[in-house]
Amino acid sequence: TAMPSRTSSASGCPVAHGALSAERTPTGCPVSQRAAEFDPFEDGYQQDPPEYVRWAREQEPIFYSPKLGYWVITRYDDIKAVFRDNLTFSPSNALEKITPTGDEANAVLASYGFALNRTLVNEDEPAHMPRRRALMDPFTPEALKHHEPLVRELARSYVDRFIDDGKADLVDQMLWEIPLTVALHFLGVPEEDMDTLRKYSIAHTVNTWGRPKPEEQVAVAHAVGNFWQYAGKVLEKMRQDPDAPGWMQYGIRKQMQHPEVVTDSYLHSMMMAGIVAAHETTANATANAVKLLLQHPQVWQELCEDPGLIPNAVEECLRHNGSVAAWRRLVTKDTQVGGVDLPAGSRLLIVTSSANHDEGHFSDADLFDIRRDNASDHLTFGYGSHQCMGKNLARMEMQIFLEEFTRRLPHMRLSPQRFSYVPNTSFRGPEHLWVEWDPRANPERADAGLRDVQVPVRIGEPSAHAIARPVVVERVTRVADGIVRLRLVSPDGKPLPRWTPGAHIDVECGTPELSRQYSLCGDPDEAHALEIAVLHEPDGRGGSAWVHANVKVGDRLRIRGPRNHFRLDESLAKAIFIAGGIGITPVSAMARRAKALGMDYELHYSGRSRATMAFVDELAALHGERLHVHAADEGQRNDLRTLLATPVPGAQIYACGPLRMLEALEDCCAAWPEGALRVEHFESTLATLDPSKEHAFEVELKDSGLVITVPPDQTLLTALRAANVDVQSDCEEGLCGSCEVRVIAGKVDHRDVVLTRSERDANTKMMACCSRACEGRLVLEL
Ligand code: HEM
Ligand code: FES
Repeated sequence: TAMPSRTSSASGCPVAHGALSAERTPTGCPVSQRAAEFDPFEDGYQQDPPEYVRWAREQEPIFYSPKLGYWVITRYDDIKAVFRDNLTFSPSNALEKITPTGDEANAVLASYGFALNRTLVNEDEPAHMPRRRALMDPFTPEALKHHEPLVRELARSYVDRFIDDGKADLVDQMLWEIPLTVALHFLGVPEEDMDTLRKYSIAHTVNTWGRPKPEEQVAVAHAVGNFWQYAGKVLEKMRQDPDAPGWMQYGIRKQMQHPEVVTDSYLHSMMMAGIVAAHETTANATANAVKLLLQHPQVWQELCEDPGLIPNAVEECLRHNGSVAAWRRLVTKDTQVGGVDLPAGSRLLIVTSSANHDEGHFSDADLFDIRRDNASDHLTFGYGSHQCMGKNLARMEMQIFLEEFTRRLPHMRLSPQRFSYVPNTSFRGPEHLWVEWDPRANPERADAGLRDVQVPVRIGEPSAHAIARPVVVERVTRVADGIVRLRLVSPDGKPLPRWTPGAHIDVECGTPELSRQYSLCGDPDEAHALEIAVLHEPDGRGGSAWVHANVKVGDRLRIRGPRNHFRLDESLAKAIFIAGGIGITPVSAMARRAKALGMDYELHYSGRSRATMAFVDELAALHGERLHVHAADEGQRNDLRTLLATPVPGAQIYACGPLRMLEALEDCCAAWPEGALRVEHFESTLATLDPSKEHAFEVELKDSGLVITVPPDQTLLTALRAANVDVQSDCEEGLCGSCEVRVIAGKVDHRDVVLTRSERDANTKMMACCSRACEGRLVLEL
């Protein structure tokens, strides 16, 4: 289906006002029927949020919901843009009650001195970032390792309790309690206070994200008030023993050094909010994951057979069916998102679960694919400066739970049931999850040692190597001088993920270290095969030479993807396709799609000679007069300058080919509107470096005694990793502060938005993902 163009009408309103409704946005624009009906407290949203807003994602990606009083944002790029700018889009309303309570409940809360305030997640700059960074250490992979034995022990002993029963409600009997216990331990809560805090924490969720009925509000308020007071008492107790392990005690110690950064109000609020942040999110995420896996028995079986897939399966579950469905921001100054005007004061509901199903970012987005290589791009943990600090603790817990289930209960299945959810906009997981199995078939009855097997967990994001997809070479065809076409199918004959024109796959050429990207050139509608064409490049880095020398019919290859950074805008009035040499691969798939859509297009294909140009006959048969072949040895050079002399309104140019050609194109398109020229680039990082404006620099690593050179086209982070120096990172755009490294000497060219001016001047730390050396050498404490 064609996406409508996002150009707004003169009023700035993107809504096609076919069905005029009486309801209006705060800017005076009438809202569409579906926007008027949107209600996140309805069962439809609870059962499947991304499905519930599919219409919006496809037709009206940003709309005003009069029932909620919020603007609702549903597409990946728009949501990421909101997360990226935490000044224009303040997180201050993240924990605000979505349904205001009545006077009576408010009076009850006040009677308890309830003053839940800013923590981290809802704190604005400049207070937030220094606090976040001060409190980050307990979340490093080394620190998190200490919690692994506890999680394992809990998982094992809870499964022991019901493994012989043949059925269990995994939520009630395990998934609710373990993440709560882990959260309390992580925070450093004394054992004797755990039960009381457990009781209170649920009320807080209803109070913040739900819509309690008026008669429930007062009871909820009492519970929340008690929770608040109790949290204060626990905190006081912790202050008596500030050297005890725990994130709160860590905060108490930091407060002694930096009282203005880690405030009293922060500590008291976090004592309460931290439990919810770490507990329900993780419990729900695991319940959602197990449910999703058991709804796909073949995938479940694959996971049981190869536990190495668990880390990426966790990521794909968080993407497909995460536990945070939506998050909130407040607009602080008049702005635009995706072409829609949002006045200061607008409240935003950013439906991250919808972003996670956006075809614009995830190929075949609704497919549940545990080998998806960009699954961890999901926004379930948020993004940028506020991205979830506890994500690696959550990942570790989820991995251990899935590992325990796949090893000890591979024969479990979902019992027939209807799933219910606590109505709220954000936190989402089934209240019960009934599963059943035949206890006589428990694998550990035959092999008692199985109970105690330990599979190592991976702390952090899954490694790309573990998630390759096996394929079999079905056909190898020579299609031109030095070019072979490979047809790849799945080993079990099952369909492969769908893809869109412009997508590519990564092929491991002999070893995982040598991985090369090839655009798909076959027919996207053919579900059982993927086709690529590979040009033998003797001067390349060895990937194509390996393919040409080794690959034959019947071989198994490992691929990743498909993934698309080169998308055709299907709403275009006109497309001009330009391919040079092997660049025809993505372009041919696009041209085929343009024809199928009935779009106006032309295809210019140039090469050294016809003998070196793949697919010429095929293309001629399909595109007739729209195809223009320029073979240099026949004197038909492609005169780009003449071709593109006059910009065509509403047209876009899609080009793939040698660098020389792309640079020439850049030049020829100077008069075209910005963005009219689209070229294939295989890297998706937004923090793109312009190597012509950068210089190389050296870094000396004091602790490891290494000296490495950072070339102009690489970030420090990439260069460090290439030298096997492990540095954490999240956003890789200078937003989140996780890639901080300590500087001992040398002048830093700071490019992040994390450090304050005085920190920059002090010149003792830098963000490795974006900052560089002003000149000469940097000495780092690494
Ligand atoms: C922030 C989700 C587990 C601690 C957040 C945010 C989301 C989120 C959506 C806001 C992100 C943003 O505004 O960009 C989740 C999910 C979890 C999970 C889905 C489980 C699957 C945890 C755990 C902890 C934790 C286990 C552990 C203590 C935090 C903290 C923040 C946060 C401290 C605030 C960070 C900041 O504002 O700088 N989380 N979370 N979360 N989360 Fe989590
Ligand atoms: Fe986020 Fe560097 S600041 S990874």
